[in-house]
Amino acid sequence: MTQTPVPLPYFDRILESLRDGDAEVTVAFGRHVHWGYWDRPAQADGSVQDYAVAAERLARRVATAAGVRDGQRVLDVGCGFGGTLADLNHRFAGMDLHGVNIDGRQLVRAREQVPARTGNQVHFVAADACRLPYADASFDVVLAVEAIFHFPGRDRFFAEARRVLRPGGRLALSDFVPRVMIPILWDYFDRRFKPIVTRLYGPSDMRCTFTAYRRLAHAAGLRLLRKEDITAGTMPSYRVLRPLVRRVAPHPDEAEEVIRRVEFSTRIGLLRYLILSFMPA
Ligand SMILES: C[S@@+](CC[C@H](N)C(=O)[O-])C[C@H]1O[C@@H](n2cnc3c(N)ncnc32)[C@H](O)[C@@H]1O
Repeated sequence: MTQTPVPLPYFDRILESLRDGDAEVTVAFGRHVHWGYWDRPAQADGSVQDYAVAAERLARRVATAAGVRDGQRVLDVGCGFGGTLADLNHRFAGMDLHGVNIDGRQLVRAREQVPARTGNQVHFVAADACRLPYADASFDVVLAVEAIFHFPGRDRFFAEARRVLRPGGRLALSDFVPRVMIPILWDYFDRRFKPIVTRLYGPSDMRCTFTAYRRLAHAAGLRLLRKEDITAGTMPSYRVLRPLVRRVAPHPDEAEEVIRRVEFSTRIGLLRYLILSFMPA
């Protein structure tokens, strides 16, 4: 089995729970490992089944932001267990679908879960988001669903996404985006909480504001197409995640604390959940 070259403690535990047949973890995280999206948040029922449907809806929104359609070559970077590509494989025809993940263990499950439908191709490759093993101008669409904060550098990922996109192609991603960057406040959060965040998630960087995203895109030769603020629609995620994260965390109290901090920062408007889409300038 391929070992992960970067520590992703939450995935170690999710993989363990999946192996042990934990039914709730399998429903909630067996296909998608990210927040959910509800068109009508008041109707979320707090169940893992409802969460799984909402997670698929969120991934679908990112694909929609990239304008995915029949006959395209699509790359999903940080593809987890392949949930986003599974949905595209199911809904579109004549597709050449590629998933990249730094963690080969996740790809074993992705390959099992996403057999190509007739007329489609599906490939999963172990690689780093910042060193994509693909030719220049070879994809119509690049996606990154709630994964970019793990990548070794957003600037390097943007350069790679731009390189592999064809003229007229699209990059769409979802991320937790601070409304403003107040370095002194963020340094304080980092000193207090970064160690426990790292013990749960491994390396992550949530300091990229929307303004910084614009700058990154410009530097990489990409143009922002659309910013969608879907924060309100993601809020029911926390009710499900608070208890669930305890089951897949090496340090349950710390993990719940991390989720509560993210929830609090979001409720007071410090953090937003955005879907951003770009095309070559
Ligand atoms: C929060 S999960 C999201 C998974 C997936 N996008 C989904 O929709 O379920 C973050 C993903 O990024 C992957 N990842 C982390 N660092 C990476 C890197 N440097 N290159 C490629 N993938 C990476 C992790 O292994 C994990 O699958």
